[in-house]
Amino acid sequence: MKDIFGLALLDFQNGNYTEDLITWTNISDEDELPLPYLFRSFKDMPALEQKALKLAKGIVLDVGCGAGSHSLYLQKKGLQVKAIDISSGAVTVAKARGVISVENLDILAETGTYDTILLLMNGTGIFKELSQVATYLKHLKSLLKPNGQILIDSSDIQYMYEDEDGGLWIDTHANYYGELDYFLSYKGQEEIPMTWLYLDFNTLYTACTALGLTCELVAEGDHYDYLAKLSLS
Ligand SMILES: C[S@@+](CC[C@H](N)C(=O)[O-])C[C@H]1O[C@@H](n2cnc3c(N)ncnc32)[C@H](O)[C@@H]1O
Repeated sequence: MKDIFGLALLDFQNGNYTEDLITWTNISDEDELPLPYLFRSFKDMPALEQKALKLAKGIVLDVGCGAGSHSLYLQKKGLQVKAIDISSGAVTVAKARGVISVENLDILAETGTYDTILLLMNGTGIFKELSQVATYLKHLKSLLKPNGQILIDSSDIQYMYEDEDGGLWIDTHANYYGELDYFLSYKGQEEIPMTWLYLDFNTLYTACTALGLTCELVAEGDHYDYLAKLSLS
């Protein structure tokens, strides 16, 4: 990883904001990801994220914290939060913004136990591929305190495969339709392509049930997105 994402966050934090991140996937064209969005305050967050923050309790782990916007909000509310991210730039920025406990760590290397584990802004993206969902969920389950909860958001992106007549062009022999090749560029530099997973609720539900996790649909957004709460069965 070249950490292009972290570089962009650092630029914004250091007052060098001149352009946004550009993202695209194997099934969609270039799109801008505005850097200020990654520094959003509670009032600018989508309703599903606001809902997740309202449900957060106890000792919290913010997985893939980015610039630390969710951690900062919870910290100000008096909760104890640990934020982790594989991007060293993101970790530097989250620290600079005031997140007290931040670590440059992959979720699979985390060993603490938590009352709330947050994975927000397409939290299932971190799982990368459908075949890895069980590995990540099993590990997340091992990090839960007895009455703990995992709050995770994602979207069913089947709509992205619809043609103008409403027909679907999903190749049923290909991988799961939510597995996307994800590309990122910033100021002329390209990140190494990654796989990013959008997981529909039913598939998440089935995977959770198989692992002894209860999976509840907490809320649905207005564009095929949802927030789920996972807990020990
Ligand atoms: C879409 S961004 C979301 C950032 C932040 N949660 C937000 O909502 O603004 C996903 C974040 O997850 C981090 N990430 C990806 N894979 C990870 C992993 N295996 N462990 C920890 N963090 C990871 C990325 O570096 C990135 O900062």
